Amino acid sequence: MIDPIKRRTDRFGWQIRVVLYMGLALLMACGVEPDTTDLFIDDERVQTRVTDMIEAQTVLDILTDMLAGKTAYDKPNARYAQKELKRLMADIPRRFRRERGDPLDRAEERIWHQWDDFLRQARIAEDRARDIEIGSRAQLRTSLGPMLIACQSCHDRYRTY
Ligand code: HEC
Repeated sequence: MIDPIKRRTDRFGWQIRVVLYMGLALLMACGVEPDTTDLFIDDERVQTRVTDMIEAQTVLDILTDMLAGKTAYDKPNARYAQKELKRLMADIPRRFRRERGDPLDRAEERIWHQWDDFLRQARIAEDRARDIEIGSRAQLRTSLGPMLIACQSCHDRYRTY
């Protein structure tokens, strides 16, 4: 038996969409523009450290994609990714120095109670970034593991989820 709710939404699917689009167009015509920054973090310092972390993930993905065979091994790209990782890991202490909060951030308050340990984790991550060897895909494979562990181990301790 066909689910009656599904049947109804199937039947009215396009009308619902038209109504939604018309509503959105009307709001925008009235000068209401969705401000995406309201949906995100308001505190500028928190935003900067989160942006840095997302960037770290993006450049790390360049390397893991090469290892997974999603992209071809490319030394200049690998070098760029390593350089960025070194910079981003070295910037962690500065980015987190001041205790700042935002309802949307994922930093554990523990960071500022155990600042020395947090710094140690950041330093290890910087060292691991420096230790990445990009000479060949095989070198990259063996040297990237410790970097991933360094990211993970800090997140386990100092990131809420
Ligand atoms: C010394 C600790 C530390 C290290 C090392 C570290 N991180 Fe983070 N990371 C954090 C903390 C703390 C947060 C939460 C920040 C916040 O929300 O304010 C975070 C957040 C993130 C986020 C989530 C951003 C979001 O959308 O909220 C990503 C992705 C991330 N880190 C990637 C990485 C990668 C990749 C590495 C390693 C290359 C790394 N991190 C190394 C502490 C660390």
